[in-house]
Amino acid sequence: MKAYRASILYFSAPGQAVLEPDGLLVVGPDARGRQVVQAVGPWAQLAPRFADVPAAHFPGRIIAPGFVDMHIHYPQIDVIGSPAEGLLPWLENYTFPHEKRFAAHDYSAQAATFFIAELLRNGVTTALTFATSHPASVDALFAQARKHSLRLIAGKVLMDQNAPDGVRDETRQSLLDTEALIQRWHGVDRLGYAITPRFVPSCTAAQLAGAGELAARYPDVWIQSHVAENRAEVAWVRELYPKARSYLSVYEQFGLLRPRAVYAHCIHLDDEDRALMRATGAAAAVSPTSNLFLGSGFFDYAGADRVGFNYGLASDVGGGTSFSPFHTMLAAYYVGREGQTKPGVSLGPQQLWWQHTGGAARALGLEGVVGNLQPGCEADFVVLDPQATPLLARKTAQAASLDELLFSMIVLGDDRMIDQTVVSQADGPTQP
Ligand code: GUN
Ligand code: ZN
Repeated sequence: MKAYRASILYFSAPGQAVLEPDGLLVVGPDARGRQVVQAVGPWAQLAPRFADVPAAHFPGRIIAPGFVDMHIHYPQIDVIGSPAEGLLPWLENYTFPHEKRFAAHDYSAQAATFFIAELLRNGVTTALTFATSHPASVDALFAQARKHSLRLIAGKVLMDQNAPDGVRDETRQSLLDTEALIQRWHGVDRLGYAITPRFVPSCTAAQLAGAGELAARYPDVWIQSHVAENRAEVAWVRELYPKARSYLSVYEQFGLLRPRAVYAHCIHLDDEDRALMRATGAAAAVSPTSNLFLGSGFFDYAGADRVGFNYGLASDVGGGTSFSPFHTMLAAYYVGREGQTKPGVSLGPQQLWWQHTGGAARALGLEGVVGNLQPGCEADFVVLDPQATPLLARKTAQAASLDELLFSMIVLGDDRMIDQTVVSQADGPTQP
């Protein structure tokens, strides 16, 4: 066992943060040998019980749950900041040419190494990640994540139409490759597989049907895709499926809406779509820096809460502009201003922080596993330095409430605030 003494931030209920000003976090192996939280609370109360456990002391620091990024593309690290008129020209002119490079294992391996390091540098300890259509890109990413014990969920992109040579795959082979990758990686250590149809326009009906069939045969495997991000994209899907009630309903038709199905963006939805998200247990990955950068639109928080489906925050690098969860939370605050129906100040800081930790974990079907520091949660956490910059130090010192402290960090924070990222290790061999 090991203990950490510092201020400790965790959630007692959805969107309700607790800050233990002088706390103790005790971690130790569970029955499977994985490091989990054994106890969390005031240092004065827990110290006698854990007197023989070696404790590291971080005065002035805040220990908080590792961040959960619900949607990110590892092959797009070099696509960040590529301006385009909108999604479709951005894909054609920047994204697809970059993704072609990942046919080579060595290229994928160096990008994966950079990517995992960047997640950890930014305090992200769980991520649902697109690779490219090349199986080698998935192998390279999982191998690197495994080396770091990271809880990473990823998949080979399915895209057998409307894409150029070099990234377009072949229907039958793409499904065989997907199943082989599920068998090779899903449930190995902390890794999970996600069946990954890129979006409706890039997949034939046969490929979507095959993806749905795999999703039914492997119910604990994730599904990830994009939906209703951009108006031109929505119009394109309407041309491809003129009889479908909506873009989202096309995924339903192919058996691709279920718990553990995560759809990025979900901007141009109506209430019937929202009810379909709720009824099927699918979740939205809200990607505000991407939506602002590509001019896609604004996620309707009020609509999502009115109907009540699961969602959480995501960077969507490289449509998104930053790996930093602080930048994403701030952008979500700006987006929450749009379409605000109730008086007040957009989303509160505890709500924003929850959406990027425990709320995102819940949307992924990993509630109680990651995204919080309650007993039993895997010991993934960050050590934050609220004095990382002169302005942060000045501002956080004046915080008169937990909300003021969290909001200062959301507005002024970035990777400089992440002193350490600690990832749950396995003491012994873990069950696949
Ligand atoms: N829709 C289909 N592919 C992509 C992608 O790579 N990024 C974003 N933001 N939207 C997409
Ligand atoms: Zn995306």
